[in-house]
Amino acid sequence: MKNIFKLSIGFLMAAVAFTSCNDQKSGQSGALRSSNAEKVYVAPGEHDSHYAFISGGYSGNLTVYGLPSGRMFKEIPVFSQFPTNGYGYSEETKPMLETSYGFIPWDDSHHPDISQTNGKLDGRWIFINGNNTPRIARISLTSFETEEIIEVPNSAGNHSSSFITENTEYVVAGTRFSVPIPQRDMAIKEYKGNFKGALSFISVDPEHGHMDIKFQVLMPGFNYDLSHPGRGKSHGWFFFTTYNTEEANTLLEVNASQNDKDFIAAINWKKIEEYVNNGGGTMMPANYAHNVYDEATHNATSTMKKEVRVVNPAEVPGAVYLLPTPKSPHGCDVDPTGEYIVGNGKLSANLTVHSFTKMLDAIENKKFDGDAYGIPILKFEDVLAGSVEQPGLGPLHTEFDGKGNAYTTFFISSEVVKWKLGTWEVIDRKPTYYSVGHLTIPGGNSREPFGKYMFAMNKITKDRYLPTGPEMEHSAQLYDISGDKMELILDFPTHGEPHYAAAIPAEIIKNNSRKIYRLAENQHAKKATSDADTKVVRDGKNVHVYMTMIRSHFSPDNIEGVKVGDKVFFHITNLEQDFDVPHGFAMIGANNAELLVTPGQTRTLTWEPKQVGVWPFYCTDFCSALHQEMQGYVRVSPANSNIELSWGLGEE
Ligand code: CUA
Repeated sequence: MKNIFKLSIGFLMAAVAFTSCNDQKSGQSGALRSSNAEKVYVAPGEHDSHYAFISGGYSGNLTVYGLPSGRMFKEIPVFSQFPTNGYGYSEETKPMLETSYGFIPWDDSHHPDISQTNGKLDGRWIFINGNNTPRIARISLTSFETEEIIEVPNSAGNHSSSFITENTEYVVAGTRFSVPIPQRDMAIKEYKGNFKGALSFISVDPEHGHMDIKFQVLMPGFNYDLSHPGRGKSHGWFFFTTYNTEEANTLLEVNASQNDKDFIAAINWKKIEEYVNNGGGTMMPANYAHNVYDEATHNATSTMKKEVRVVNPAEVPGAVYLLPTPKSPHGCDVDPTGEYIVGNGKLSANLTVHSFTKMLDAIENKKFDGDAYGIPILKFEDVLAGSVEQPGLGPLHTEFDGKGNAYTTFFISSEVVKWKLGTWEVIDRKPTYYSVGHLTIPGGNSREPFGKYMFAMNKITKDRYLPTGPEMEHSAQLYDISGDKMELILDFPTHGEPHYAAAIPAEIIKNNSRKIYRLAENQHAKKATSDADTKVVRDGKNVHVYMTMIRSHFSPDNIEGVKVGDKVFFHITNLEQDFDVPHGFAMIGANNAELLVTPGQTRTLTWEPKQVGVWPFYCTDFCSALHQEMQGYVRVSPANSNIELSWGLGEE
């Protein structure tokens, strides 16, 4: 244990030294050569060459940026209520945030991954995980809206997620925290040997993208940190890093750093899929939400699912193996050929690279070194492809450029190191400002990366931007990696805490981007597609307003007969059929948010009037020269009033 303390202190001292060194340097390093400025300059009216989808971390959302400019285009609400467009506030989208714990308006989003066909990015969907209340979301890259969220039962700290197999057969969700399965009241100190770690394989319907938990592998009670799919020759396998193989339940910073090696768990999901397809595994009671947004009805529905199929790995011989990997590995990254599996041992001096071919060979020859709860452990030397010697301090994540090179981030020494697959030699290193976490190369998790740009997502910003008080946005840095040496070409701020990002050449998705919703195809049950459809209907204390919006009025814009104690539902359809003409709707005293309604769409805002009076509503999005005229009134009478409902537009 003493050695571990020494090691930790050593790393800390190194961290302090590197940080202060960087601080001193930053004044000079801020300036770029003018030729570099040209590399990121996207002239007014020109488009970026790549989209980058950067996770929002504790914002719960996903942000869309352009590369190389670093301009932010959009924040896509996923797990969090979003007043900017009313997501999670409108009646149509509230069901997206339902869970077995009730309505959860927030999460911690981590690792986006774009769908693939034959190991190449196909640009259909992007998936992202909610880490806190375990969920996986699927976002359409046509509408750039969240279309589906599935909760993951038997999981906690959904961190080794949401990575995708090379034909989007599965999106995978692995638990960071092992827990009692099923959950029950038990002593925490009985963790060891009793808690389990669920690795969930969620199937994706190839046509519609709909997700379903196919099976959960109930693994030993380790912490499953990150994962990546096999590809090419290793397609059919999935690799997960583990730490806390000590199964400690307290003071993990010491107790989970005892073992010289933890494991990468190699899961042969094809074998388990076959086992399950033949009736293997056990259905166990569970409770989890499956929320689906229907673009035709403009409505989300939430269904509670009641059981899930679990698989004990001991029942499927040949499906799960453990590869010893030094010192609490974090990132688990597979190169484009599928041969190399990089384990980024956070506390290890060297970077460990396993060989898929050697792994198969060791399995074939049964060269095992004992087992953990019945799961065979392979010998480190038998699966090792090579190691990068002393590349830096605190390796976290590795991406690939498709040209035989790997790029690893080092959190403590605050740098990105480029090294060569196969020879393991370091080719280049560049500092990051400061303390880099993840990095992204467009297509970096696929068989065909687009190795022109790499960007680092840094945890600490310090002096890189004008100060904004104690809280600052995080800092990303873009590097040109087309040459032998990496060149820093841009700093740009990111929103929330970006963990990972996925990026893709713009031409793969931009031409599919939806511009409007066709009114003729609107199947919302409470739509109003012309002024003739507008009406106000009382149903007990509920008042339904069927309203339209078009430049520059609401119809109706005068409503009377609403009473204190009523619940008013404004069902509002935007009649516009032109690109980029949304209208907004805001009602005084509504205790939710405004709505942003895009052309052809129907959205519903609920308002509970509390006070007698005449109360205005207005359009929140500047839509025409007469935007300020786009307004109306609701008269609210006492609860016992007998004023009849009436409504109108343009009547004196
Ligand atoms: Cu409609 Cu502003």
